[in-house]
Amino acid sequence: MRTTVGIIGGGPAGLLLARLLHGAGIDCVVLESRPRAYVERRQRAGMLEQGTVDALRACGAADRLDAEGLIHRGIELRFDRERHRIDFPALTGGRTVTIYAQTEIVKDLIALQLAAGPPLLFESEALAVEKPESEAPVVRFVHEDCEQTLSCDYVVGCDGSHGISRDAFPAAASRTYAHDYPYSWLGILADVPPSCEELIYARGPAGFALHSMRSPSVSRLYLQVPNGTDADDWPDERIWDELAARFAIDGDWRLERGPITSKSVTPMRSYVHEPMRHGRLFLAGDAAHIVPPTGAKGLNLAVSDVRVLARGLAERRRTGSTQLLDRYSEVCLERVWQATRFSYEMTTMLHAQPDGDAFDHWMQLARLRRIAASRTAAAELAANYTGLPLAL
Ligand code: APR
Ligand code: PHB
Repeated sequence: MRTTVGIIGGGPAGLLLARLLHGAGIDCVVLESRPRAYVERRQRAGMLEQGTVDALRACGAADRLDAEGLIHRGIELRFDRERHRIDFPALTGGRTVTIYAQTEIVKDLIALQLAAGPPLLFESEALAVEKPESEAPVVRFVHEDCEQTLSCDYVVGCDGSHGISRDAFPAAASRTYAHDYPYSWLGILADVPPSCEELIYARGPAGFALHSMRSPSVSRLYLQVPNGTDADDWPDERIWDELAARFAIDGDWRLERGPITSKSVTPMRSYVHEPMRHGRLFLAGDAAHIVPPTGAKGLNLAVSDVRVLARGLAERRRTGSTQLLDRYSEVCLERVWQATRFSYEMTTMLHAQPDGDAFDHWMQLARLRRIAASRTAAAELAANYTGLPLAL
């Protein structure tokens, strides 16, 4: 097989890149190791920056998002048993965010791709990227027990945090930076209308809790738990009791309970791989960087990577210039490090530090109180949360 751009991975990064390239008249093939049903069921984040929504609209993948997405104009920080609203439009000159589940984006992109091309091959696992330094890199992959090759002009590794694309970077040309946090998130989906209109980020007596949502009838909630926690040790009543305690305020507010339909534990990690390009091999999304979910930046970063890359490949096709492609790694990493910083700050400000002392506790409260008291501090949070401008 031969194509212009070989894309490894059919998550949001790979699928959106394929749509953007298709729109620019560039042919590509997407290889996805898992079956379609698995990819469409995977539970992930759900907060979209305006730039992410714009990119999905630009490639015709936003019909359902526009009909069902929930526009949010702020978030609530909850600590000291009080609520503090961060008003995004007022603090950012009009910006908002949209709540729409990543699984739904993936379903919408897959449906478009299968209807209009280019090819998307499920159960096709990439084994290795060969000759990335040459003008004709090759992806070796296996489909139905049969090993095949895909010859390309360019290869893009959109294969997530456990992918194989990074392995094709020579060790001498790679730098990695990682930070593991001493806590995890226990996440649930529940068939109950959200108890709030906007997301609540709470710092309670025993640690962090987040109230998010998927739709007017489905709530998504998270609890900080110790690393190594087994979700089976958390019966439904225990989860609701702990959530209620962490969200408790002095005043009128009640957490509505309902049937829990899914439960899972996710560790928290920051990771950056530099550079994001080696020869004709590019990395995009989780293949190149991971952030803890506290700032909801993972999906949005993946989308900004592929927007930059699609633009570079389109410029190369239209004018022959590789100027933008040559700046891909530099342009993306600037935004990646800012999102890494923001996610780190949100995470360390809101989670109870397991081995922390009273000093750590007061530092966290001082940071939160500063945001509640100062318009400048709140505006800084709002600008990062709604998405920094993409420097293209
Ligand atoms: N060959 C083919 N496909 C592969 C291979 C491989 N060797 N290894 C992994 N994949 C596929 C995975 O099955 C998955 O569908 O690559 C895809 C990677 O998708 P994601 O992990 O979703 O990563 P990405 O597209 O970068 O999305 C960004 O934002 O909310 C965050 O972490 C969250 O998924 C999220 C991400
Ligand atoms: C989610 O809805 O899953 C979600 C929202 C905001 C976050 C993290 C996760 O910061």
